[in-house]
Formats: sequence, structure tokens, C-alpha cells
Amino acid sequence: MLDAAFGPGRFAKTSERVRERGAMAEPSLSRVALDDHNEVVGVCRIWSVSAGQPFYFLGPLAVDPKAQLAGLGLTLVREAVAACRAKGGNGIVLVGAERFFRPLGFSVAPPGTLSLPGAVDPARLLWLELRRGGLSNARGEIGPP
Ligand SMILES: CC(C)(COP(=O)(O)OP(=O)(O)OC[C@H]1O[C@@H](n2cnc3c(N)ncnc32)[C@H](O)[C@@H]1OP(=O)(O)O)[C@@H](O)C(=O)NCCC(=O)NCCS
Repeated sequence: MLDAAFGPGRFAKTSERVRERGAMAEPSLSRVALDDHNEVVGVCRIWSVSAGQPFYFLGPLAVDPKAQLAGLGLTLVREAVAACRAKGGNGIVLVGAERFFRPLGFSVAPPGTLSLPGAVDPARLLWLELRRGGLSNARGEIGPP
């Protein structure tokens, strides 16, 4: 499903470097969408990371091309964010399109605050504080928790 949604370049993404360098998977906070045949048609994964302080890293987010534009992507993120908030997390960081994530409360991270182990367009580095000032100590390169 991830291959179908992202194409062959998905392992080249800088976000993948964060995940392979020791980010800790959080299955209980991640969300998967199944169709009537129990096939996976969507996924939103959450990882524990840190940079100056602990927070969550979101991705990959993907919906099967056959099931896109029906609200599934937004629902998966909304559910994962709710799980992170219920757990009492500081905030969530991701690399993605601001236009898609803005309705869920994400905004562009202040330039120069956070970096990834590789190139990333600063306009696509987004975050969401799960409580007021939750990410105020976030700085530096995102690494393992
Ligand atoms: C991005 C993705 C997960 C969205 O899933 P989806 O189920 O189609 O999304 P939704 O139906 O919930 O879309 C809700 C809104 O987001 C918009 N949207 C969808 N994909 C978008 C994108 N890549 N960029 C900006 N906006 C997007 C839709 O047009 C819709 O807006 P509208 O309600 O104003 O029409 C899906 O297109 C996908 O898997 N893409 C390939 C992988 C990818 O790029 N993942 C994101 C990496 S951060």
C-alpha cells in the first residue's frame, strides 16, 4: 500500500532517515484503516523522537490511491493526533504539505529551530503543540528518543 501511494522514491525521503536512525515506533498511537476485506487502505504512523526535548514524529501517512479523496487521510491523522494528546505528549512534528495538515492545527515550524538528518524544505517542516508551549524547547537535529 505504501509503495502504491508513494512510488519507488519513498525510501529516499529525509523522514525515512529519522525513522531508520533509532526513532521508536509507537504502535498504540499509530492508526491503520482497513476495508471490508480487512485489506490495509490507509496508515498513519507515529514515532517517539527527540531534539532538545521529547516529542512525536508523524509518518508515513498514506492512503491507497483507490481510496483517496474520501476523507480517510484527514481521519487517520485526526485519530493519531487524538491518541498522542491523550497520552500526554508535548507535540508532533512531520514533513508534509501545509495545505493538507493546516486544518488539523499544524503550522510551519519556526525556521532554524529543528532540522532533520538530510535536506528538507523548511516550508514542509510542520508541527503541532499538544499543549501550550509544548514544543518551546524543541531545537536541533531530530534523533532517537
Ligand atoms: C496525502 C494523502 C494521505 C491524503 O489522503 P486522502 O484520503 O486522499 O485525503 P483526504 O480525502 O482526507 O483529503 C482531505 C483534503 O486534503 C486535500 N489533499 C489531499 N492530498 C493532498 C496533498 N498531497 N496536498 C495537499 N492537499 C491534499 C484534498 O484535496 C482534500 O481537500 P478538500 O476537502 O478541500 O477537497 C494521500 O493523497 C496519499 O497517500 N498521498 C501519497 C502519499 C503522501 O504524499 N503522503 C503524505 C506525506 S506527508
